[in-house]
Amino acid sequence: MFENIFSSNHKPLFLAPMAEITHYPFRKLLEEIGGVDVFYTEMLSANLLASSNINKSVFLKGIEYKREKPLIFQLLGKDVDVLKKAAKVSLSLGADGIDLNLGCSAPFVYKKGMGSGLLLDRKKLKFILSELRNVIDKSFSVKMRIGLKENLEDFLKLIVDIKECGVDFIVVHPRLIKEKFKRKARWDYIAYAKSIGGVKIVGNGDICDFYEGIKRRDEEFVDGIMIGRCAVSNPWIFKEIKEGGEVKKDFKWTFLRFMELVREYLPEKYQLSRIKIFSKWFTKNIEFGHFLWKEINKSDNLSEIERKILDFFE
Ligand SMILES: Cc1cc2nc3c(=O)[nH]c(=O)nc-3n(C[C@H](O)[C@H](O)[C@H](O)COP(=O)(O)O)c2cc1C
Repeated sequence: MFENIFSSNHKPLFLAPMAEITHYPFRKLLEEIGGVDVFYTEMLSANLLASSNINKSVFLKGIEYKREKPLIFQLLGKDVDVLKKAAKVSLSLGADGIDLNLGCSAPFVYKKGMGSGLLLDRKKLKFILSELRNVIDKSFSVKMRIGLKENLEDFLKLIVDIKECGVDFIVVHPRLIKEKFKRKARWDYIAYAKSIGGVKIVGNGDICDFYEGIKRRDEEFVDGIMIGRCAVSNPWIFKEIKEGGEVKKDFKWTFLRFMELVREYLPEKYQLSRIKIFSKWFTKNIEFGHFLWKEINKSDNLSEIERKILDFFE
């Protein structure tokens, strides 16, 4: 059982939930590197969690292993009863906290009223959050975008509504629903959210090196920071933020270790796709890494990829 996420004397560093990336092998790699205080699963379908097939799901691989740090299960759904059941199942499987996804902006998600789509029906959102709070006796949070249109007043009302439902913290990724990753994250919205008071605020968006990480962590208006894409291109970033400077990086070892973990813990049919997705981001920080990425992307088996990695780092 972990203590309160915010109880230590430093602001916690969160690994962002990322679909098809923050599976067990990647989380284990980051745990081995060190620096992350709180882990997230990738978003998990509430329907799937609430169904009887859950034990077979690739998304839950590895949850049974002992952890050094808390792991939050992120739920994606819109039906209150299904979400409640999914939250209970998650807790019974050992989740250290539950997060409701209010940020996914993929059209097939938000147009169905899930993810960021839930932000558009305030009454329903409040009902779901209050009901979920009643069944979650551990950390309960939401991770959100800031809405469909830029409207500060409306955004602040939204924060008040969410806070009043009793969540423990709110992760704000300050982009509009339809923006994808266009334009910079509006960190001033994170400060506005904090100005409401009475709820912890975690800031997320565009932290792409440790200087930025330290700067953002030290902002008065955040209680913690969350990092997504840069955690893949620079898995050492959490450690660097903690240590206040660049750390030694062994890209070849880390790449091969990741592959080893994928081989060990993911079912074969998912291995190639998850390695390719990781490689796309991981090679961004390697000099001439795009050549390696192109080679990996053409490969159709893991041995070939390993050979290409070894050749590249010769
Ligand atoms: C490949 C990918 C998958 C993502 N999947 C999720 C997800 O499952 N749940 C979620 O709340 N956000 C998801 N996000 C958004 C990230 O958690 C994060 O909010 C966003 O990338 C901004 O943070 P960053 O600038 O540090 O990357 C995803 C982002 C990426 C790039």
